[in-house]
Formats: sequence, structure tokens, C-alpha cells
Amino acid sequence: MRKKIVAGNWKMHNNVEQTDDLLNELIANVPTETDTQIIVAPTFINLASAVDHLEFTSIDVAAQNMHQAESGAFTGEISADMLKSIGVNTVILGHSERRAIFNETDALIANKVDTALKHEMTVIFCFGEELKDRQNKQHFNVVENQLRDGLFHIEKASWSNIVLAYEPVWAIGTGETASPDQAQEMHEFIRETVRKVFGKDIAEEVSILYGGSVKPENAKEIFSKPDVDGGLIGGAALKAADFVAIINAF
Ligand code: PGA
Repeated sequence: MRKKIVAGNWKMHNNVEQTDDLLNELIANVPTETDTQIIVAPTFINLASAVDHLEFTSIDVAAQNMHQAESGAFTGEISADMLKSIGVNTVILGHSERRAIFNETDALIANKVDTALKHEMTVIFCFGEELKDRQNKQHFNVVENQLRDGLFHIEKASWSNIVLAYEPVWAIGTGETASPDQAQEMHEFIRETVRKVFGKDIAEEVSILYGGSVKPENAKEIFSKPDVDGGLIGGAALKAADFVAIINAF
């Protein structure tokens, strides 16, 4: 049985106090009897306190990014070892904002994936087409290339540490969502693409999350699709009530 996951990507939001407040609200309100894994990804400086805060809860903590090198002269960067040393075992890699604003290429993301896997971290691997790709009917090609160039070099055994997050760029933070059928169509394609290269068992086991303007109002229908195993939530993860409603949509 593959895992159901709802992850909140907080991006560059929430100072220390706001992080504490949101975590307290989540602790008080997330369902305790659920088979859905719940993950939050605060900013780097709030990760250590989030790990402490959530120690006796079922909520896990992820980082939003990390550097590919073990250590060195990389001013402003954070390594896998640093994350692990504070108890963060999951990292989001390849988010479209990292790709578009910080010029992260598939090759760079592939390096980061290797480093994270070497440190036995779980990777939430993000990818997805831009609007022009969909308009030009290139969305399947783009997604396949991102998977191949960023991820498909890994060994079969590493797949137990991989979560896929399909996030069409045109739906991120825009209020525009892929329709449940568009999401299902792409998720099915992604699973089939994984199956062709790594086989049926891995394809059936890997969780594929949808991301892009998921809200309480549309979560249920998107999550009801057979190949959608959860969501990576941006804006709606910043309000406890919305995030909890999305979790409850499962
Ligand atoms: P959004 O962001 O839910 O605000 O569209 C999703 C994401 O960037 O992961």
C-alpha cells in the first residue's frame, strides 16, 4: 500500500513566533487517527524548533531545499548533514521556484538527490510543466524529461526514499488548479513512466502528490483520483484550518 501524504510548503513565510503559533494550532487540530502522513516544511531557521515542537506528535518536518555538497565554502547554504543533525530527514528538491528563480537545472537537482539519498533522507521530488508547455502539448515530454534527467539515475533500492510531487507551474500560487481529470491523467502517465524504467512494484509503491492551488474546496475531488496520493500545499498550508481541512479531505 502506498502512503498518503499531505505536505505543507511554507516557503519564505512565518518568523519564529508565527511558526510556533501555526504549529500549536496544527498540533491541536490535525487528526490523530489518520493513515495520512502529515509533513510541514518551515524555513531553515525555524526547522530546529519545529522538530522540537513536534517531537511527540505525528507531524513530520521537511526542509525546503539543501545544497548538494557535503560542506565547504558555499556562503548561505545548508548541507544534508546539518539537516540530519537537527533531526530533519526529509527534503523538498526541485521545486519550480528553485528551478525558475534560482536557476536550478535538472543536473543540479540530480546532484542534490544523490546527496540526500546518500544521507538516507527522503526526497520530495518536485517537477511539472509551464503553461506554454501545456499550450504546445509538450507537457508529457517536459515531465518525462524532468524525471529522467533529475531522478531516473537512482538505484531501484532508493525508491523507498522518494516521493514524487507533480506541480504544474501554471497552477502554483495562481489560484488556478489542474482539474482532477488533468491531475489524474498526468499522475497516471508519471506512474507508467516510472513503471517502464523501474518496474511495476516501484511504480505501484511510489506516492505521487499533486501541488498547485490545492484548497479545502478542491482537495477532496483531486484526492479521490486513483493515482493521486496526496498533496503538496503552499498558500493553504499557512492557515491551520485550511491545512487541516485538506488533510481531512482524504
Ligand atoms: P500553492 O503552492 O498551493 O500556493 O499553489 C504549491 C507549492 O508551491 O508547492
